[in-house]
Amino acid sequence: MSHADDHESTRRDFIYYATAGAGAVTVGAAVWPLVNQMNPSADVQALSSIFVDVGGLDAGSQLTVNFLGKPVFIRRRTEEEIAAGREVPADELPIDQQSRNPNKPGTDASDANRTMDDAGEWLVMTGVCTHLGCVPLGNGAGDFGGWFCPCHGSHYDTAGRIRRGPAPENLHIPVATFVDDTTIQLG
Ligand code: FES
Repeated sequence: MSHADDHESTRRDFIYYATAGAGAVTVGAAVWPLVNQMNPSADVQALSSIFVDVGGLDAGSQLTVNFLGKPVFIRRRTEEEIAAGREVPADELPIDQQSRNPNKPGTDASDANRTMDDAGEWLVMTGVCTHLGCVPLGNGAGDFGGWFCPCHGSHYDTAGRIRRGPAPENLHIPVATFVDDTTIQLG
């Protein structure tokens, strides 16, 4: 690993931890008055929304954050990944043709319906295989350049759509929105 890579890795780690910390602080401040009033559900309330700083993410890299007890993948896709996703329309998908995106309810699984932005750069998904719940491997894994679940061999493409294997549905997308140019709110 070169010095430059080492530096980059350290920087990404910092971004991840700084982001997680900032999210916790923000949530804690917002819901603290509720903790005393609603004790049984305070934990749930405190986790119902987090803010993630994605300003340090380069194309071709991703963050994994913990949201509501599950990993969430936030990927900034490369031009190649976008093109690969867009060249496969929803009606050619062999297993699941629904977007599984609550931010665009009832839509088909075309690439544009899976991403946060019109350009298709930002993909946010719950990192749980829809077969039996393993966490898929990312960063171009699998036969379709997206994610691969080694538990029973499910291959997801660059839009997180199931293309081969036992998983019955595309990777699910959480409620998510950009609140400014570099911050994504989950929940
Ligand atoms: S849990 Fe992913 S393929 Fe079975």
